[in-house]
Amino acid sequence: MAKRRLLKLYRDGTKLARLALGVRARVPREVQLEVTNRCNLDCDMCPRLTLLKVPEQDMSLETFEAVLGRLDAPHSITLTGWGEPLMHPHLFDMIDRAHARFPGCDVGFTTNGHLLTDRMIDKVLERRVSRINVSLEELPWAEGDPQAPPPRDAGATPTNPMKGHENRVARDGHPTPPKVVAHLRRLLERRHAQAARGAPAPEVRLQVVLFPGSGDTIERLVDFAADLGFQAVNLVRLDVRGRPDLRRPTWEEERGLIERARQRAALRGVPLGSVNDHGVLLKLASRADSFCMRLDSYIYVDVHGNVAPCCLLRGHKLGNLVEQPLEAVWGSEAFKRFYGPGVHPACQGCDAFLHRYAEPDPAPRAVAPAPVAVRA
Ligand SMILES: C[S@@+](CC[C@H](N)C(=O)[O-])C[C@H]1O[C@@H](n2cnc3c(N)ncnc32)[C@H](O)[C@@H]1O
Ligand code: SF4
Repeated sequence: MAKRRLLKLYRDGTKLARLALGVRARVPREVQLEVTNRCNLDCDMCPRLTLLKVPEQDMSLETFEAVLGRLDAPHSITLTGWGEPLMHPHLFDMIDRAHARFPGCDVGFTTNGHLLTDRMIDKVLERRVSRINVSLEELPWAEGDPQAPPPRDAGATPTNPMKGHENRVARDGHPTPPKVVAHLRRLLERRHAQAARGAPAPEVRLQVVLFPGSGDTIERLVDFAADLGFQAVNLVRLDVRGRPDLRRPTWEEERGLIERARQRAALRGVPLGSVNDHGVLLKLASRADSFCMRLDSYIYVDVHGNVAPCCLLRGHKLGNLVEQPLEAVWGSEAFKRFYGPGVHPACQGCDAFLHRYAEPDPAPRAVAPAPVAVRA
């Protein structure tokens, strides 16, 4: 674990140096592979079917192998697209193949946790998985708990187990039935037991999208992460461009939510990060948000091997790794244009990775502009 931390520190340092000097990585080292766009849920906040209209299909093993063969010493491979990776019948085979080809690479995925049954946890723990991000915005309340906020619009929405309507605060986020909590408890218990035996065990992080008025909920989630022994909590800004009718916290409220989460996390001893609050050095390196820090070493690869500069720009095909070498795609003028100078027209209005909001007023907009970037 200490070795991994040192490596991360080194990589963050080189990224910082690159950003400060305005130098793009020679080849992308952070790779997101869209293994499937099928999902067992239908979260209201998710632009999967609304804005992106992604095809609901899996990446074939042939495409996966072809893409893997093109990569050049990646630091991280995230096997997640616009769907639930645990639905892919060959996800674990893909993890094994990625590790076999790139032994030093961090290979992981992001999941909603609903399919993390005992059998699935067996599969996770019987092989090397570097990282699992679990997405959760709420925790279920016990019946009659006096601390529970009142149910929202009780009775107004018919119960739909694919949506988060039962949630008290983040009803547009992931649904959180008690079974998900039970799955996570078991995953973490077994993960810790494995680590205690000295066997490799995945780093498990909680990934939380911030909703208006979610301060208490986020403190509960930080406590939950500390109680179960998650390795970190990662806060994500709600992007509403797929659903302009949804409301996100104002920028001021968001700062407050992050600060409150930080204080709670410090008290409980859980590392906490936010993709919109990277700390002073990276803030300086991004020259006060004048460009997106994701673009210097990242690619998104869709189910067919097409390469895009960001997950929500998946329609922006800049090449195909089944057909072309990585250097040809990454080095193309069209791809370099995303790095700058200036903000690419396709990125205008996106603030998924910026410190501030792109627009001063986060009020809902009437029309959805270009697709947004969402961290996997
Ligand atoms: C698209 S999901 C795919 C993986 C998996 N199905 C899950 O939900 O964790 C990847 C991440 O995107 C996040 N996400 C979805 N819609 C979002 C939005 N409108 N704004 C910010 N993050 C969003 C989810 O919370 C999740 O952490
Ligand atoms: S956020 Fe994840 S779980 Fe929810 S609909 Fe989108 S892909 Fe599925």
